[in-house]
Amino acid sequence: MKVPPRKKDLIDIRSLSREEVEYLLESAKPFKELFSQSVKKVPTLQGKSVLTLFYEPSTRTRSSFEIAAKRLSADVTNFAVSTSAVVKGESILDTVDTLQAMRVDYVIVRHQASGVPGLIARHTRASVLNAGDGWHAHPTQALLDAFTLREVHPETAGRRVLIVGDLQHSRVARSTSRIFHMLGAEVAALGPGTLVPSHRPEWLRTFSNFEAAFAWRPDVIYLLRVQRERQHDQFFPSVHEYHHQYGVTAERLNRIRGEGIHIMHPGPVNRGVELVDAVMDYERTLINRQVENGIAVRMAVLYWLKPGTEERHG
Ligand code: CP
Repeated sequence: MKVPPRKKDLIDIRSLSREEVEYLLESAKPFKELFSQSVKKVPTLQGKSVLTLFYEPSTRTRSSFEIAAKRLSADVTNFAVSTSAVVKGESILDTVDTLQAMRVDYVIVRHQASGVPGLIARHTRASVLNAGDGWHAHPTQALLDAFTLREVHPETAGRRVLIVGDLQHSRVARSTSRIFHMLGAEVAALGPGTLVPSHRPEWLRTFSNFEAAFAWRPDVIYLLRVQRERQHDQFFPSVHEYHHQYGVTAERLNRIRGEGIHIMHPGPVNRGVELVDAVMDYERTLINRQVENGIAVRMAVLYWLKPGTEERHG
């Protein structure tokens, strides 16, 4: 497999070419194979240091990056924002200068404001990996989603993916819809008019109700959480109404099962809102597989990036 020239940072899916995406998806496969071995570690990043810098909560992404880095034998430090000098008013760039002085090689950043990982990347020699910024982007989520889609549908071209829920506030929807489109899948959105962006790419088809979306015959339904922490207005009448209109109810799950549709979700899920409990036990639900694949994909990204702190890859 031809290795594309290595980049310093991963900020957005837009910054990756199709060739780079294909390379990352392919190179994640041997990392996933490692998971079934008794020794899951390789020495690739021995002596390198990885710092996770999360200004927003995370369960999956932070721990997945930590496990990925440790399986590559890097040293990992989790920067606890809530107990750091950030709470005394230290700016992001002063925090980064401090970390630079510690000569970390990779910084993994999540921030509530769009653009912060890109800003940090311009001010540090370390590789910066965007772990989610505001509404903007979540590139490793998109890569793990693409990897998971490829596992169940090796030929992604022409596959149909219906993204359901709060697309407006979702960095996952922005990144994941783009990578699916890049890989030749058809992508559609379903959600309340208030939660589907009015400015959207021309390739993103929209539906106003589940019936019309089912008639389109999707291969995958990708559910999103309603991001109440990013909503400052009332975007739909009630949770009950939302569930009734846009949730995977028991009746819809029967239809999904009958049509062999896969279900994806980036997590965390809100049971009783976007899905009923039974979705978690449905045989074509890929949610746990997405989490597992996240480690392999993040190993591939860490392996490929080239920090400005060293010349490892020549
Ligand atoms: N998918 C995702 O970003 O989950 P976390 O918020 O738990 O990291």
